[in-house]
Amino acid sequence: MFLVLSPNVFCLCLFSLNKCALVIVHPDVKNWIKYARFEEKHGYIAHGRKVYERAVEFFGEDHMDENLYVAFAKFEENQKESERVRVIYKYALDRIPKQQAQELFKNYTIFEKKYGDRRGIEDIIVNKRRFQYEEEVKANPHNYDAWFDYLRLVESDTDADTVREVYERAIANVPPTKEKRHWKRYIYLWINYALYEELEEKDPERTRQVYQACLELIPHKKFTFAKMWLMYAQFEIRQKNLHLARKALGTSIGKSPKHKLFKGYIELELQLREFDRCRKLYEKFLEFAPENCTTWIKFAELETILGDTERARAVYELAIGQPRLDMPEVLWKSYIDFEIEQEEFDKTRNLYRRLLQRTQHVKVWISFAQFELSAGSEDTLAKCRQIYEEANKTLRNCEEKEERLMLLESWRSFEHELGSESAQQRVAKLMPERVKKRRKLQAEDGSDAGWEEYYDYIFPEDAANQPNLKLLAMAKLWKKQQKDDDEDDDEQDPDKDIDESSS
Ligand SMILES: *[C@@H]1O[C@H](CO)[C@@H](O)[C@H](O)[C@H]1NC(C)=O
Ligand SMILES: *[C@@H]1O[C@H](CO)[C@@H](O)[C@H](O)[C@H]1NC(C)=O
Ligand SMILES: *[C@@H]1O[C@H](CO)[C@@H](O)[C@H](O)[C@H]1NC(C)=O
Repeated sequence: MFLVLSPNVFCLCLFSLNKCALVIVHPDVKNWIKYARFEEKHGYIAHGRKVYERAVEFFGEDHMDENLYVAFAKFEENQKESERVRVIYKYALDRIPKQQAQELFKNYTIFEKKYGDRRGIEDIIVNKRRFQYEEEVKANPHNYDAWFDYLRLVESDTDADTVREVYERAIANVPPTKEKRHWKRYIYLWINYALYEELEEKDPERTRQVYQACLELIPHKKFTFAKMWLMYAQFEIRQKNLHLARKALGTSIGKSPKHKLFKGYIELELQLREFDRCRKLYEKFLEFAPENCTTWIKFAELETILGDTERARAVYELAIGQPRLDMPEVLWKSYIDFEIEQEEFDKTRNLYRRLLQRTQHVKVWISFAQFELSAGSEDTLAKCRQIYEEANKTLRNCEEKEERLMLLESWRSFEHELGSESAQQRVAKLMPERVKKRRKLQAEDGSDAGWEEYYDYIFPEDAANQPNLKLLAMAKLWKKQQKDDDEDDDEQDPDKDIDESSS
């Protein structure tokens, strides 16, 4: 310990030998304070201050004791040196580990309340909260929410070095597992860090480093964050580094292709009016997800906008030829709308025919009929009616009575608006009768669950040659014959018997 004492301390000691000896023999904070107070009491203010300064030097930054600083500050407060007081408190608060600085904190708060300006008091509050956040992140370094709060606080209050230091400490706490859900909060530390460097510090080089370090850290083989790639690319575009943006996105779809990445990359090239690049990307996107109708449609729409209808049509043709599609009805509708827009009515008809080979859905028929109506050729009405007639025949065997009804209703309103009296009557004759019926419900365990009412539709053309009725009549006849054979002399009314057994 003696070795650390500077020659100045010895000079000082000579001045007031008694106390000095005490300090040298027992280099406790307590003794230094006693020594300084002694000087103060006797009016040797400058000497008192020197003793405190030497004590500060003596203990250095490694052995700081809050009591020394509290006493030193009090000393300066007695001298009405409030700037000195503040410097002492802040110096100590910045260096003493927080859990050992509670007294210091209290005394500083008291001081600022007495003399401080607003700013000083705010500092105290900030320091107090920093202290709390430090405790929280120490207790659980993976508590990212605590880090966010902590960072928000330092960002609003301190210098760049401190902010960066806290960011670096925060991102060092990589989630312990390679499971995406554990990374979702964590990744925002990086995002905020990058935004901070770009927007607050306006430091593009560091921003780039943050993004790149993050992208290297993410285990892309297991999962990725499209957002991170896209944000980085957008940053490079703001920096006018197109090649870097493209390189990043190219790497991203190579490493971990995702819808969002393709979409984002295509949007970028669209903004840059780089249509050939868009085309290449769409091709890659569709190799990656050939069943996605949205992508096919977007691709075809792009070609349409660019005025290349042949290409657009070729895209649609490729699309409808895919063995698996997620929303074929939307795709077909888009293709049909495309041909209508091109006023390619024969091509449109052809498409409807091809679609009807795949599905007999009533909506396709109605749409087809309405197309004929709107196509505005000379014999519009006849063509439209012809589609309805065809549909009527095809749907005759359709199990879904509601679908048949839907067709007839559409047909009826068409004739109502545009058809002749007789045409209207022809359709009217086809309309079914609606009858209320009841059926027994069964619960899942097979037990009785009461009755349900529902509507059934009896189509006149079905009723005319109802096969069920014929069967029933045959059964009755058969039963009757049996009865007649077996019970020749039975007097029972045979019809009654049959009714009961067939009901
Ligand atoms: C420091 O604050 C404590 C209360 O927290 C008080 O008892 C003590 O007297 C203060 N010390 C000085 C030197 O003001
Ligand atoms: C299909 O691709 C689009 C982008 O074109 C995307 O937004 C959508 O999520 C994809 N659909 C499915 C089911 O993956
Ligand atoms: C509707 O279809 C049925 C069954 O094929 C047919 O008997 C009937 O004549 C058709 N009605 C019209 C108006 O075309």
